Amino acid sequence: MMQTREPIAVIGTGYVGLVTAAGFAELGNEVWCVDIDRTKIDALKRGEMPIYEPGLTEAIATNAQRLHFSTELGPALEHSRLLFVAVGTPPTYSGDADLSAIHAVVDAIPASAGQALVMKSTVPVGTGAAIRRELDRTGKREFSYVSCPEFLKEGTALDDFRHPDRVVIGDLGDWGGDAVAELYAPLDAPLVRTDIASAEMIKLAANAFLATKISFINEIANVCEETGADVLEVAKGMGLDQRIGPHFLRPGVGYGGSCFPKDVSALKQLAGNSGYHFQLLTAVIEVNELQKRRVIAKLQKHLGSLVGKTITLLGLAFKADTDDMREASSLVLAARLQGSGAHVRAYDPIAEHEARRLLPGIELAGSALEALQGADAAVLVTEWPEFSQLRWSEVARVMRGRLLVDGRNFLDGNSACAAGFTYEGVGRQPLGGT
Ligand SMILES: NC(=O)c1ccc[n+]([C@@H]2O[C@H](COP(=O)([O-])OP(=O)(O)OC[C@H]3O[C@@H](n4cnc5c(N)ncnc54)[C@H](O)[C@@H]3O)[C@@H](O)[C@H]2O)c1
Repeated sequence: MMQTREPIAVIGTGYVGLVTAAGFAELGNEVWCVDIDRTKIDALKRGEMPIYEPGLTEAIATNAQRLHFSTELGPALEHSRLLFVAVGTPPTYSGDADLSAIHAVVDAIPASAGQALVMKSTVPVGTGAAIRRELDRTGKREFSYVSCPEFLKEGTALDDFRHPDRVVIGDLGDWGGDAVAELYAPLDAPLVRTDIASAEMIKLAANAFLATKISFINEIANVCEETGADVLEVAKGMGLDQRIGPHFLRPGVGYGGSCFPKDVSALKQLAGNSGYHFQLLTAVIEVNELQKRRVIAKLQKHLGSLVGKTITLLGLAFKADTDDMREASSLVLAARLQGSGAHVRAYDPIAEHEARRLLPGIELAGSALEALQGADAAVLVTEWPEFSQLRWSEVARVMRGRLLVDGRNFLDGNSACAAGFTYEGVGRQPLGGT
């Protein structure tokens, strides 16, 4: 018999909002979900998911009786004390975080007693303090404010909700922090109770550190290519050192997605706005941008000019198991290839809808083999499992050229070589070919 749990509201039903809502509904909480996007809310009411996240459709369907979707804040405010804010904080042109959606939520809540704003969205340090001042100034003094940053990973988001490495709660010592801690208690996760500014910084610093690890191994990979070392061996040897650990030591085409690029840039800007030049992050960002372009150099090394060449991108999402293409390396790659005069063709098993929106100039195919028909070269961008099942002898029959650039070291280079391909991974010596 499930204990009666506190009803909550989730404002913003994107990746974070929906996973938070489904996760708490699974724990037995009634969840009132609000979004300004009517199309999204209408779809959710019909049981259709606006995003691809493994297990989410099932989790929402199983707990449908505890989930309510609306474009109106009213019912959410009426039924819940804890208002989780999970609206987007995309980058502005300057690289700062755009907090307009957050301010819209703060403006929209009426002055009423006894509620808490629980910030899930990733925000610059100082945002909580500014919102606290705004609440006080606008007669919403009774509102509690809690920072509770989100660490989920797209692709495994529900599992991350159910088994978080930690739950971080930053508060001012009033009732809100305790209420959020109680809400998360059944997950039995390590709890970090701290002040609001530190909670905000934990999120930014964690993402900046992971991005730094990626840029670091990408640079090691680039040096491996010049010196004859194999980055996979190097990463294995490094990762066994417990002080380093094996995670985020996989070189590739640069990090992308809706979090790392914007959060690294927001932390760099935050430091700059505070009078501190964060040199390391400047380099991390630059390395990442250059890494996306190294694929072009590899194609040119083998094909010469790319004018008129057909290049197939295998995968477009920023990583496997998501349809998210925000800041995906494929966007830069496709643009650079088109800029070099190539014809770009692509296939992604899930992100096709996003691709049509974000990459209108490229040709999208319905399968990997269709995308590879007549291509001069193939570039693996996203490590979708189905690409590891490709039979290279079959691929060789449909492609015009014999060049395979594996942007993730994901494919079996030896099998590709046996079928006559030249295989270029990342941080390793090329196999086969001329
Ligand atoms: N996606 C991730 O992997 C991830 C992980 C950790 C943290 N975060 C952070 O969580 C936040 C949300 O990210 P996301 O990926 O879920 O974003 P998203 O773009 O998928 O979803 C944001 C949702 O908020 C809605 N929205 C915007 N303004 C609104 C308003 N005034 N009222 C109600 N709804 C509104 C949008 O319509 C959209 O549905 C961001 O700050 C992000 O940095 C994201």
